[in-house]
Parts: sequence; C-alpha cells; structure tokens
Amino acid sequence: MKILVINGAPRKNGYTKDLLELFNSGAVAAGGLVEQIDLRDYDVRPCTGCFHCWDPNRAGKCSQNDDMAMLTEKFLDCDTLVLATPVYYYSFSALIKAFLERLLPTSLPIITQGGEIGLERNTERYPKRGPDRAALIAVGAHRNPKIMDGLVKTFELICDGIYAKPVGKLLRTESFFLDFDAGKPITGRKVRMAFERAGAELVREGWIEAQTESDASLPFTRDLETFRRNSGTYWQIASEIGAGGNDREQLRAAVSRDLRILAHELAACYDPVAAGDLEAVILFNLRDEEADNWHLTIDKGRCAASEGTHPSPTLTLETTEEILVEIILQRLDARTALARGDMKATGSKSLLGRFQRIFPAPRK
Ligand SMILES: Cc1cc2nc3c(=O)[nH]c(=O)nc-3n(C[C@H](O)[C@H](O)[C@H](O)COP(=O)(O)O)c2cc1C
Repeated sequence: MKILVINGAPRKNGYTKDLLELFNSGAVAAGGLVEQIDLRDYDVRPCTGCFHCWDPNRAGKCSQNDDMAMLTEKFLDCDTLVLATPVYYYSFSALIKAFLERLLPTSLPIITQGGEIGLERNTERYPKRGPDRAALIAVGAHRNPKIMDGLVKTFELICDGIYAKPVGKLLRTESFFLDFDAGKPITGRKVRMAFERAGAELVREGWIEAQTESDASLPFTRDLETFRRNSGTYWQIASEIGAGGNDREQLRAAVSRDLRILAHELAACYDPVAAGDLEAVILFNLRDEEADNWHLTIDKGRCAASEGTHPSPTLTLETTEEILVEIILQRLDARTALARGDMKATGSKSLLGRFQRIFPAPRK
C-alpha cells in the first residue's frame, strides 16, 4: 500500500508531528510504503480562481508555477491519502486548503454522470487514478469534539469529490494535554498506541477500526473546569518560557512537574472508600523559597486542592517541591522520603500511614 501523508501543520515541532510519527511507524511496521509531505516546506500557493486549467488550450495545466505540479503527481500515484491537519478556526489549515484547491486541474469542467458532487477526471492529461481511500488526522486544542464537526463533514465531502472512500478519522482534541497526562497516564498511553495501531490497521485491513478511532479521541481532562485551569497553567508556563512555548522539551518538562496541575491531580486520585468518613487537612509546607504551599481539604467524601497555607492542618508534610512532585507522580513513596529525611511530618501519624491508600495511583 502506497500511503501519501499530507501534513498541513505550519508548526514544525507540534503535536501533529508527534502523532504522525506514531501513525507512520505503525504503517511502516505493517509493510506500508509511507511518504510524508510537510506542506510548509513546499511552495503551494492558493488557487487564484482563473480557471485557466479548464481552458481547452491548456487543459489540466495550472497557470501558477510552483511545487504543486510535482505534488499532484504524488497525489495521483498513491492509493491511500492521509490528510493530517491542525484544527485552525474549526477547519483545515490554510496549507491543506491550498493543496486541495490546487487539485482542480486534475478535473474537467464536467459534472460526472456517476458521482453527485465530483467532477469528471482529466484522464487524458492525468491517466493515473489517484487514491481510492482517504483518512483524516485532525489535532485541535479545544476539549469539545464538536469543534471538528465542520472539518469532518468537509473531509467526507472531499472524499466524495475525489472518489476516495473515507476509511478512518483520528480526531485528537486537547492536543496540549499530550504533554501533561500525569492525571491520566493510562489514557495517554492508549492514545499514543491508537495512533500507531491506526497506521498498521490502515495497511493491513484498508481502514481504521472504530475502537482505534475512539481510543485516539479519549478525553484527557475529567471536566471543563480542569481543562480550563490546566490550559491556563499551560499557557502561563509557555509564556514564561517564551517564544510561544515552542521549545517543546522545556515546556513538557515544566508542565509535567508543575504543582498547579499536580496538586489537583493528586486530589482527583482521592479514594473516598479508602478514606471512609475522614475529615482532614493535609498541608504541604514547601522549603523552597519561591514555591507556594498547597493544602488538601478532605471533607464529606471529597478532596480539594488549594494553593496557600492553612491555619490548623491535621497533618503537615514539610518537604521540597521536587520531592513532593516525585511523591505525587508515585515515583517516590512518602515513607521512604520520611526515612531519608527528605520530608518531615507533624500531626496525625495515622493519616500519614494511610496516605498511599487514600491517594492511589491514577487508574485512568
Ligand atoms: C490560527 C489558529 C487557529 C486555531 N483554531 C483552533 C480551533 O478552531 N479549534 C481548536 O481546537 N484549536 C485551534 N487551534 C489550536 C491548534 O489546533 C492546536 O494548537 C494544535 O495543537 C496545533 O497543531 P500543532 O501542535 O501540530 O502545531 C488554533 C491554532 C491556531 C494557531
């Protein structure tokens, strides 16, 4: 199978690139021939609407002289097309849009007899058929999958228009959260595996399974409030780093260890069954000069994280930000930290003994 991946992400180092790497590796491992075109590296100008390509004297030839003639040959030479796009204003990026517009010369100004919305192909100039299947990969930052409705509908119409069967859609919302899935590490793994599996399925079966599509879209945040709060923190960190947070390594390292995110994730791990009728306040008193303190309030079967100190905590854990992050990420046991002197506990020792049970590792 010859797969042509058209990557319409203007950003070189974004989430579209990450997910495409997984998808392509799955396809290649399954024996597919994959060629990825990063449109940002090519000169493909939007269609000018001159209709010169439909002039009988120059039928099929565009009036513009850029890279599209070469890319058109690649399009006609593949059997499966993958359109990969960041969601820009509820639609394809302008790079993808320009690429699609510029396929007009492959058609004739004749409404075909068979198809309802396609045009007859200019088989005299372009004898190759082009893809008979197409898949969509869309990557957006918002949480609500509805933001992709228009894009998906457009993709389906495009498939009709180019006589390709739609064989799969990988719709990834909450793109930024791929960088901080601490609260849902299992979901993060499932999403990444789904992108890889999708590539393999496309090659082996000719389509992407519904379960794989659904796994690729699994939500990262449990509610809108968490999404809003964590998005706000993400952008605050990105602006502190500068340059739009495009140093992804630095950004990932910072967001995945930020207490403004992790303290809430710890509260979300709270197990009300293990806690019983517990009412308590756990204060994290941080030794670092710059770090803010945090406390967890446990009451009526619920647990909430708040920034700042508390006048009468049931248990106070004095430690550094670094150690607390390690404990929340479950890379370090609270008791080990105590034994090593990395943490000091004052107050309820029994609550300390129950800490790990009350806050188990995230199950999603
Ligand atoms: C101009 C612009 C428009 C955007 N419009 C949307 C949108 O309508 N819906 C959405 O969910 N995300 C939108 N986003 C966010 C991007 O989809 C998101 O940042 C995505 O991760 C970009 O892909 P990349 O990481 O590969 O660069 C927009 C971003 C830009 C720069």
